[in-house]
Amino acid sequence: MITPSLIECKSLGKTYLGSKSPALVDVNLGIAANEFVTFVGASGCGKSTLLRTIAGLELHDRGALTVGGRAITGPGPDRAMVFQHYSLYPWLTVMQNIRFVRQLAVHTRNRTSSDVEAAAGRSQALLDLMGLGAVANAYPNQLSGGMQQRVAIARALMSRPPILLMDEPFGALDAQTREVMHDLIAHVHRQERSTIVFVTHDVEEAIYLGHRVVLMAPRPGRIDTVYEVPLPAIRNQAMRLSPEFLGLKRTLLDRIRETSGMKTDLELLEKLSRNDDPKTPAASPPEGSSSALGSGPARAELAH
Ligand SMILES: Nc1ncnc2c1ncn2[C@@H]1O[C@H](COP(=O)(O)OP(=O)(O)OP(=O)(O)O)[C@@H](O)[C@H]1O
Ligand SMILES: [Mg+2]
Repeated sequence: MITPSLIECKSLGKTYLGSKSPALVDVNLGIAANEFVTFVGASGCGKSTLLRTIAGLELHDRGALTVGGRAITGPGPDRAMVFQHYSLYPWLTVMQNIRFVRQLAVHTRNRTSSDVEAAAGRSQALLDLMGLGAVANAYPNQLSGGMQQRVAIARALMSRPPILLMDEPFGALDAQTREVMHDLIAHVHRQERSTIVFVTHDVEEAIYLGHRVVLMAPRPGRIDTVYEVPLPAIRNQAMRLSPEFLGLKRTLLDRIRETSGMKTDLELLEKLSRNDDPKTPAASPPEGSSSALGSGPARAELAH
């Protein structure tokens, strides 16, 4: 049986005003309810544009985009977004930050006291889910980056959005905190039964979290390949060392390099440092400095 998609992109395209080349072309993708889909790809390939378009923060100019069968014309309560920079209200406590938007809704729509009670119950449950019980009355500047991002996620989940859209939400966190956040968000996904669309630069993060990894390519921004992640639905950190995990990681890194043009840069640098032409010997780098391959994009690639 084919599961109908919750989010459906059909021949989706977008060109920013004043831009000569499209940011997205011919995006065809269906995302099922309760799926966790991750997006990777070279910088500028349109990951954030696609996410913001699904959020309704950008409008596409070609093709169709529907959520639950309805065309997207703007933001809606069925979709919540979490950004890399958590942007909490610094003058509100953790608990007040989590409740803020819901309280606004309660006031503006003249809800009953039972609605207020339900909101209080929900915010307490989210506080517990996120392990923030001990800091409920602290202010954002008293928290670590990981804790602040947990508050931002709890705030996004407050109104039970079926879809959570996340744009490099853990990009500003250190590696150890990121690992903890991975297990936390996977737990949240199971508990809340949300559909999660998650953009990242980190290939390991994409594999560890995703049921599917969508690899995008730039110039113009498009979907290159969609990979099923060959791991059990419930993951643990030890799986990062499995042959399946490492195999997909290599495949993704190679494909990102091929589609990003980085490979060409690397070959050029290698050629220069090989001193191919005997008539024009390559200058040896001064002592203590890095070689041609030791800096810039090539080094970043080699570090993977
Ligand atoms: N507001 C904007 N106005 C004009 N062009 C934009 C705008 N936002 C993005 N672009 C362009 O659209 C293309 C896709 O950008 P986008 O930010 O979606 O890429 P990305 O894959 O998220 O990149 P990164 O990995 O660096 O975050 C790029 O060429 C970018 O310059
Ligand atoms: Mg981006």
